[in-house]
Amino acid sequence: MRDQATVRDPGDALLRVVGLSVAYGKAVVVHDVSMEVHPGEFVVLLGRNGAGKSTILHALSGLIPKRGNVHFAGCDITHADPGTIVRAGLVQVLEGHRVFPGLSVEDNLILGTYARRAPDQAEALERMYGLFPELGERRGQLAARLSGGQQQILAVAQGVIAQPKLLVLDEPSGGLAPLVVDRILTVAADLCRGGMAILLVEQLVDKALARAHFAYLLDAGRLAGAGTAGQLRGTDLLRRIYLGD
Ligand SMILES: Nc1ncnc2c1ncn2[C@@H]1O[C@H](COP(=O)(O)OP(=O)(O)O)[C@@H](O)[C@H]1O
Ligand SMILES: [Mg+2]
Repeated sequence: MRDQATVRDPGDALLRVVGLSVAYGKAVVVHDVSMEVHPGEFVVLLGRNGAGKSTILHALSGLIPKRGNVHFAGCDITHADPGTIVRAGLVQVLEGHRVFPGLSVEDNLILGTYARRAPDQAEALERMYGLFPELGERRGQLAARLSGGQQQILAVAQGVIAQPKLLVLDEPSGGLAPLVVDRILTVAADLCRGGMAILLVEQLVDKALARAHFAYLLDAGRLAGAGTAGQLRGTDLLRRIYLGD
């Protein structure tokens, strides 16, 4: 694992979030969060259930109102709509492997290409079948017939086919067997080595830290810490966030 903390230059962040706050009605659930993802980095956002992780991701994708500033790939996307944000290259795979069950594997992937015009659809599909052979073998099958793990891989592939600059994954491990989780996280790490930046939300701390260059710890909607996996692993802070002691 690379340790990128020493080479992080604030000047070249791909995603820079400053003072992000989000409320549902009067309930503020994310307070003044600032974080960065740099080109080619694998960043993980950790925190207990209900800490506000998905809320942060939804705010970044323009799905819910927020306060603060968000810059992505040189543009201010604070007030941009979700379509503009996707076309700028920030693509999120939502929590809970959401695919279209009544469509085939291939049609689900084709929908993914609409997010950002793929120059050549046939080539983009073949690239996905190369990366995810389990999808290639089932390209004509209804997504509803896939296992939970295969549906999650399809959901990830739907994001990847859009060739994002930053792929945002919200708990891709949710409810899946350990082998499938390892497969998904290994794919994410491979994509990252290929140049795609990754922002991952995960409950499986050890598995996530094993792949991440940098981690942010969220506690009750506030940033409680940040650092490289090496700096955070085994610390009291990490234990406190997960065990609440
Ligand atoms: N649509 C919503 N309306 C009101 N409260 C919400 C909504 N979504 C999430 N919350 C609340 O916001 C807090 C953060 O939720 P969430 O971002 O989903 O946490 P996490 O993803 O870290 O588990 C929780 O207290 C949750 O109950
Ligand atoms: Mg969540």
